[in-house]
Amino acid sequence: METTLRLPHSDFEISRIIFGCWAIVGGFNWGPQDERDSIEALKAAYDSGISTFDTAEAYGGGQSENLLAKALKGERHRIVIASKVGPQDFAYADLIQACERGLKNLQTDYIDLYQLHWPNPAIPLDETLGALQVLKDQGKIRAYGVSNFGVKSLTTCAESAGAISSNQMAYNLLFRAIEYEILPKCIESDIPVLCYSPIMQGLLTGKFSDWEQVPDDRARTRHFSSKRPQSRHQEEGCEGLTFETIAAIRRLSTDNGMDMGSLSLAWLLRQPGVGGVIVGGRNAEQARRNTLAYEVSNNRGLFEELSGLTEELKEKLGSNADLWQTDSRVI
Ligand SMILES: NC(=O)c1ccc[n+]([C@@H]2O[C@H](COP(=O)([O-])OP(=O)(O)OC[C@H]3O[C@@H](n4cnc5c(N)ncnc54)[C@H](OP(=O)(O)O)[C@@H]3O)[C@@H](O)[C@H]2O)c1
Repeated sequence: METTLRLPHSDFEISRIIFGCWAIVGGFNWGPQDERDSIEALKAAYDSGISTFDTAEAYGGGQSENLLAKALKGERHRIVIASKVGPQDFAYADLIQACERGLKNLQTDYIDLYQLHWPNPAIPLDETLGALQVLKDQGKIRAYGVSNFGVKSLTTCAESAGAISSNQMAYNLLFRAIEYEILPKCIESDIPVLCYSPIMQGLLTGKFSDWEQVPDDRARTRHFSSKRPQSRHQEEGCEGLTFETIAAIRRLSTDNGMDMGSLSLAWLLRQPGVGGVIVGGRNAEQARRNTLAYEVSNNRGLFEELSGLTEELKEKLGSNADLWQTDSRVI
């Protein structure tokens, strides 16, 4: 399996396993986090061959970008930094300023891949893409991408002749919503998908044996009942089916002598249209373990079996690619 990918409209390669820098700031969704563990996780990921790191200003209000700069000081030209700008900053002048903040937080003079975090229909995409192109022409960013962009937004990008290098989307064995429309659209448009939450925030490592064990802040997704305290959707959820599916994946992994998380990542890396997987890790051990997915050999039968085991859950959750809301923000 290829372990690197040259992004379209860019002159650089990313590692197909990308380290996700959200959870290393702890707090919202994740709870307490020791900064030393975060630094060790970043270093371990780099030492295990991961060149690419995904962050965002929204992760701890710049704290994640700061940590990345601190941990990998001295390696700047050997790593690929993917950061994101929030939708509140999509107006031309705001976006230029947000990028300056990002550069400062990251202690660098360029961001390799700068991504629009979520669509913002209130601001014309032409204006936002224009600002990104100016930043690219100035050398402040090397390429730009989008995130959580559905078919309509991707079509607008194409009409604006935006040179989009990637679309970051929630995609994993327990959440296959993009397969209905968005993934085919990305394939048709030659936009690689970078998959976020690829082990479904830990659920695909088998660490929770039933839905009641999942902490409330992580049980906000549409898999769980809207009765969970931090839920933002109006659905009954599918906790039983989710955990039956997890148990079936666990059995298949055990029968084949494989680590469940690695197998889940390997399945994803082999789906058509998938450029890379962005996986989080809160310590060095997790960061190292998550690179083992490269070593899972190609076993088409096994991957097809995994697709079959997760089909019912895919149908139940449907084509809404917003993990958290019924009123989808993926447009
Ligand atoms: N564009 C967007 O809107 C968006 C949204 C979400 C995420 N992202 C990006 O995608 C990245 C990854 O997504 P994510 O953090 O939501 O989910 P994820 O990668 O599916 O899960 C990461 C979490 O799983 C647990 N974990 C990781 N490796 C493990 C291992 N080997 N064994 C056991 N547990 C393990 C850790 O939490 P515990 O140890 O606490 O269990 C870790 O924080 C983020 O860091 C961020 O860069 C983007």
